[in-house]
Amino acid sequence: MKKLFWYLLLIFVVLVMLTLILVVDKKVDNKDEVTQDQTKEKLSLLNNIDKKIDYFHYNYLDRYLDYQKKYSYLSDIDIVTRVNLGLDQPFYQNTKPSNELNKITILVNKYTYLPEDYVPNNLIKISDHFSSSTRELVYEAKESFEKMATQAKKEGYTIRVVSAYRSYYYQKGLYDNYASRDGIDIADTYSARPGYSEHQTGLVIDIDNGKLDFNHFEETEEFTWMENNAHLYGFILRYPKDKEEITGYDYEAWHYRYVGKEIAKSIKESNLTFDEYYVRYLEN
Ligand code: DAL
Ligand code: ZN
Repeated sequence: MKKLFWYLLLIFVVLVMLTLILVVDKKVDNKDEVTQDQTKEKLSLLNNIDKKIDYFHYNYLDRYLDYQKKYSYLSDIDIVTRVNLGLDQPFYQNTKPSNELNKITILVNKYTYLPEDYVPNNLIKISDHFSSSTRELVYEAKESFEKMATQAKKEGYTIRVVSAYRSYYYQKGLYDNYASRDGIDIADTYSARPGYSEHQTGLVIDIDNGKLDFNHFEETEEFTWMENNAHLYGFILRYPKDKEEITGYDYEAWHYRYVGKEIAKSIKESNLTFDEYYVRYLEN
């Protein structure tokens, strides 16, 4: 009799436990379903753009939607591109070190920086024929620049480097001077903070035509020549007009970045900034 009692109690306990497990499981299932439904709804607000591009980050979904609320006139692709760049946060916030040191496709901008002690490999002096004083570039960029300047010369144009590789500390000196002269807000529109300057990559040139100051370069015939030819030598205009909110810098007609011929051609054809191109086609 006693034994029977214990058997019955055991069966009862097992049944209670099974019921509890089923109830909890059902709840979890329901919760999953609700979350899935919410995600579906959110994705539909972005016209299911995640199915069409391979740079959609599901963990940024809420950031994309917040950005869309603020910039409803932007396409879904532009929203994803800009949030991936970090543009939903103020410049110089959520910054990260570059993990592409010494790569021709390295991205350096107001969210991605270079270490203080970073000096690119293979820096080499630019020929005196094409430089106002001793300037250095990474070998591949230097070779291509000299070919470009030589061809321009043949056609009657002068392209001269006035700035190229700049160390972290050189950039710091420049930026600090500008900031104390104009204030940080103004300085930030035209000068990079130390560690955030593309010049530190050794892949960048500032140029003039040997007659007018570099900040009048846009007014020169050499500028038109560069517009038509720079991409053939792997250079792009890095801070174009009307792209200030993406690049974070005022238009700079004199600042060119070496990215290699193939990418330079695609960027020219697509009319994207390097930042946007990077997010869409180069970022891993
Ligand atoms: N003028 C550019 C943005 C630099 O300082 O690197
Ligand atoms: Zn520059």
